Amino acid sequence: MSGDFNGLAAVVTGGASGIGAATVRRLLESGARVAVLDLRPENAPEGSLGISCDVGDTGSVRTAVAEAARTLGGIDVVVNNAGIGAQGNVAANDDDEWDRVLNVNVKSVARVSREALPHLRKSANAAIVNTASIAAAAGLPERVLYSASKGAIRAMTLAMAADHIREGIRVNCVSPGTANTPWIGGLLSKSADPEAERAALNARQPHGRMVEPEEVAEAICFLASPRNKSTAGVCLAVDGGMEGLRLRPVGE
Ligand SMILES: NC(=O)c1ccc[n+]([C@@H]2O[C@H](COP(=O)([O-])OP(=O)(O)OC[C@H]3O[C@@H](n4cnc5c(N)ncnc54)[C@H](O)[C@@H]3O)[C@@H](O)[C@H]2O)c1
Repeated sequence: MSGDFNGLAAVVTGGASGIGAATVRRLLESGARVAVLDLRPENAPEGSLGISCDVGDTGSVRTAVAEAARTLGGIDVVVNNAGIGAQGNVAANDDDEWDRVLNVNVKSVARVSREALPHLRKSANAAIVNTASIAAAAGLPERVLYSASKGAIRAMTLAMAADHIREGIRVNCVSPGTANTPWIGGLLSKSADPEAERAALNARQPHGRMVEPEEVAEAICFLASPRNKSTAGVCLAVDGGMEGLRLRPVGE
């Protein structure tokens, strides 16, 4: 895909870590100019433009998207990737926590997209890629709020794709399985037995390991690439088969 994004400008939210950072590096390698909208812009990958932004705040998003468009000379690609976790069953989180997580994980996608749309409409190669999760497609224990937020992303992706396909803006999403990012590293370090927890997460995916952030970045770049202009409204799983496969236990 080298050079696929030559001349194009991309905005990646949450691009300072994990899946977002791998996506930024992949886009830069492929010729894009890239702005990273993140709470920690100082960690944006080398070669990208780090912009301080809280995707949970409308004013912050408005200012950051405008700065990205001005500095990059437009916006062709938006990757709505910033997100936070939430744990527990349906009774575990109070209304404030529901509002906080849905604000950052769901309303942010509307905020960033609506600010970017006027710029995307001027592009001949416009694409939005959202980051959903296996949690939207499979029932995972203790993840009710997080799953709700990612289910919304899947549904929004389809509705957004329908609204914008005729104006030449393609919208798709990726659905990663458990990915080997600082987020998961942080969760593991808090567990009583991090090695056992890591082994359990590896074993949950049919290919026997966590997904690497670079693998998700590859899928995001496929969906965003001008070479794939017939792909719209798709949710591309990058989960080692976790969503669709039903293996027999090892040895049977
Ligand atoms: N890691 C996984 O197992 C996994 C699996 C499926 C989906 N996802 C999704 O992938 C995305 C990225 O996850 P990751 O594992 O790379 O996480 P990460 O924690 O490594 O990176 C997330 C980035 O988002 C930024 N961020 C968080 N809140 C923000 C806010 N309000 N405004 C701006 N930036 C903010 C953080 O500063 C960080 O740089 C998330 O949407 C997550 O839900 C992750």
